[in-house]
Amino acid sequence: MWEKIRIRYCFILLLALASAGAFAKADKKSSVESFTLKNKNGMEAKFISLGATLVSLKVPDKNGKFADVVLGFDSPAEYMKDTNYFGCVVGRYANRIANGKFKLYNKEYTLAVNNGPNHLHGGIKGFNRVIWNGKKIKTDKYSGVVFKYLSPAGDQNYPGNLDVTVTYTLTNNNELRISYKATTDKKTVINLTNHSYFNLAGQGTGDILAHELMINADFYTPADGNCTPTGEIRKVEGTDLDFRHPMAIGSRIEKVGGYDNNYVLNRDSAGQFVLAARVTEPASGRVMEVFTSQPAMQLYTGNFLNGIKGENGSVYNKYYGFCLETQHFPDSPNRLYFPSVLLRPGETFSQLTAYKFSVQ
Ligand code: GLA
Repeated sequence: MWEKIRIRYCFILLLALASAGAFAKADKKSSVESFTLKNKNGMEAKFISLGATLVSLKVPDKNGKFADVVLGFDSPAEYMKDTNYFGCVVGRYANRIANGKFKLYNKEYTLAVNNGPNHLHGGIKGFNRVIWNGKKIKTDKYSGVVFKYLSPAGDQNYPGNLDVTVTYTLTNNNELRISYKATTDKKTVINLTNHSYFNLAGQGTGDILAHELMINADFYTPADGNCTPTGEIRKVEGTDLDFRHPMAIGSRIEKVGGYDNNYVLNRDSAGQFVLAARVTEPASGRVMEVFTSQPAMQLYTGNFLNGIKGENGSVYNKYYGFCLETQHFPDSPNRLYFPSVLLRPGETFSQLTAYKFSVQ
């Protein structure tokens, strides 16, 4: 059965690669589907089934003017070529696993390596490069889209079949909620996130350095030159990573060479749904709050964007978007004192993140 599914998805993937037109055209010609959600305040979120990707998110400013606040492309073919993970679901393991190796119950696994010596964001063919099965849902309070994907045992060399469900809902409270669920038939590791790049002034309008950011974290996990954790958990106090009080993202960015750091979120108990971050864009007045049940969050400031041709003729350069990737700590499979990323048969992996929009 898994073989059949694999063949089917390969075929769909080929079709996706062949599609070069805009979404509407692609919808007819290939199996990459698109889904649009609207709420009663006029907010609109659009997704494609390739990578279960958020492709646009239209949010009002303080004058009620809407702008798309996420970076993106015009066609699925461009998403297929993208190496920056625009808007997609990242898995099986978001962020890095050092040297692509880990041990589980004394068996060593060697994963696909795609970032120097490391396994990054699910490997060579991560969840961003596969077609998910999407379906719209609707209730009085929200509309949503449910994306499902069956990752076969051995995918990028991970153990166990993994059955993943990612549900996006757009509430009438101007929240985009992302629920992640997964089950397995063999002990495995998992860490899922969404990799949207935000610019609250509107995608393509410039850099995000004037955005004011608060991160609810007293600690971070220092990393080595390859961006893998050294294993320490250190205070942000006294460092350029301290965002406990709102600060412009650009205020110290050159000192750190762009942010690409994992923050340990403050909470009273594991799994508690907490405010992770608040971002304000002074000119438009748009505010985004991030809430999550996940233990950590990567702040990444688009350090590697270099003249990327995006949607509607936009060009994305360094610092033109920021990501707040709620996640487990990088390299947790090799750091057993980090919150566990183990998933066993009979258990359900379950995480929730919400991006809530308002104005000030
Ligand atoms: C993450 C990583 C970065 C980079 C981007 C994608 O945020 O931490 O180092 O790989 O994804 O370009």
